[in-house]
Amino acid sequence: MASDISSLLTEDRPSTSAANRARRAAEVASFAEAVLDGLARRPRSIPSRFLYDAAGSALFEEITKLKEYYPTRTETKMLETFGAEIAEHVGHAVILVEFGSGSSRKTSLLIDGLPGLDTYIPIDVSEDFLVEAAKRLSRKHPGLTVRPLVGDFTRTRTLIGAPRGAKLGFFSGSTIGNLTQEEAKTFLENAARLLGQGSTFLVGVDLKKSLNVLIPAYDDEDGVTAAFSLNLLSRINRELDGDFDTTTFAHVALYNADKGRIEIYLKSLIDQKVHVLGRSFSFAKGEHIHTENSHKYSVSEFQDLARSSGWMPVTAWTDEDDLFSLHLLRLA
Ligand SMILES: C[S@@+](CC[C@H](N)C(=O)[O-])C[C@H]1O[C@@H](n2cnc3c(N)ncnc32)[C@H](O)[C@@H]1O
Repeated sequence: MASDISSLLTEDRPSTSAANRARRAAEVASFAEAVLDGLARRPRSIPSRFLYDAAGSALFEEITKLKEYYPTRTETKMLETFGAEIAEHVGHAVILVEFGSGSSRKTSLLIDGLPGLDTYIPIDVSEDFLVEAAKRLSRKHPGLTVRPLVGDFTRTRTLIGAPRGAKLGFFSGSTIGNLTQEEAKTFLENAARLLGQGSTFLVGVDLKKSLNVLIPAYDDEDGVTAAFSLNLLSRINRELDGDFDTTTFAHVALYNADKGRIEIYLKSLIDQKVHVLGRSFSFAKGEHIHTENSHKYSVSEFQDLARSSGWMPVTAWTDEDDLFSLHLLRLA
């Protein structure tokens, strides 16, 4: 198989410049709708996928290097430690489909252990970052066909251009924790349809743990996670003619024990009025915008969720400090 990175694909068509313009316009429209609706409702909220424009993805990369942010280094080490065991279970896979692939750095470790892989399909909303990561990965693994797919993984219904063969899904970084449990169930059911019979799914899931470890991972002392959150307001200013003063909002990370999740908010530090696309929104001092959840699961809680979504848990690995879990699922 020749080394190959296909041009960027969308779900319904290969990209051309006209299709690219139409897709970008549709993305801005969907961002506008989410922001205008989200700021008008109470409590205010904006879906977390909009945190990831090019600047947001670059800031997330910085987060993964922070001493407080244990998930990336723990999951990376687990992929190194358990790579051979993982390969024993999934060595038959020909196509690797990654949901929310980001930098694809951890994926390289998985690919190294699976010489039978023919095609890699990374799916991400952050288009520029996706394209750069796909190019880097393609250079690193000549012989692998890389077909980046830009879009919302909760809405992906077809894998255009995918060859026939057994598929391995990969969902790393505990991104599944950004979904509520109902959303995660719907996502897993859809992934089962997308990957199809004979497929396996490797999912990285953050474990419940002490708040002394958890809270700093979402609110580091250098303020990188804060900058990542606040970039959402800057993105609104850039793309939706907003006038947020980011110095008058603060990043807040709380643990909601009832829901077993970290919740991230942007809190207004003053009474103020903000404009977006010509509409005006009043914020009282202390009023929040909810921007992200990160659900934490015990191993058995996640296995129950997987079973209820049509997946059979095969095995689960945890690290020695019980910070993170890697679940291998097979279609029941
Ligand atoms: C927490 S980061 C994890 C990145 C990478 N998997 C890792 O473990 O380092 C989440 C990634 O998912 C992407 N993402 C978030 N929501 C998405 C959605 N609804 N559809 C597609 N990609 C999404 C983001 O752009 C980002 O690259």
